[in-house]
Amino acid sequence: MTPTDEQIDALVEAARAAAGAAHCPYSRFPVGAALLDIRGRTWTGANVENASYPEGLCAERVALTHAVTHGAALDSFLAIAVWTDTPRPTSPCGACRQVMHELAPSARVVSGCATDERIDATVAVLLPAGFDPSLLPPAPTDGDA
Ligand code: THU
Repeated sequence: MTPTDEQIDALVEAARAAAGAAHCPYSRFPVGAALLDIRGRTWTGANVENASYPEGLCAERVALTHAVTHGAALDSFLAIAVWTDTPRPTSPCGACRQVMHELAPSARVVSGCATDERIDATVAVLLPAGFDPSLLPPAPTDGDA
């Protein structure tokens, strides 16, 4: 299912609004993200930083974990929008691309910003050779010692 141009524009706008909830006192770089699922629902998130800097989370991963922990099905995401109040759009970091690879592998990824410039890609284009969970050994069951 392909999102319409109107849906993508609305998703970028949802990401813009979501950036308002960012907790980013260290970088002062608010980022918003919004996911569109196959049921037409929108799930948002913003970056949440911590004084222990590496514990901070990007907006994309906050939105993805928000969606998954509130009932969105894995691989139900049609699109992901990212928004920053910058002259050029922000492309997701490598860690977020890997999480998208597992949770939203078929999604279109659109980054918007304060100008008309956009990055319009897919998870597969952004991370063509991500680590795939199918390579892991089977998880142990209760019967295993
Ligand atoms: N950040 C995101 O939330 N998403 C991105 O795609 C790039 C970076 C956040 C992480 C950190 O809170 C701040 O932006 C500066 O790197």
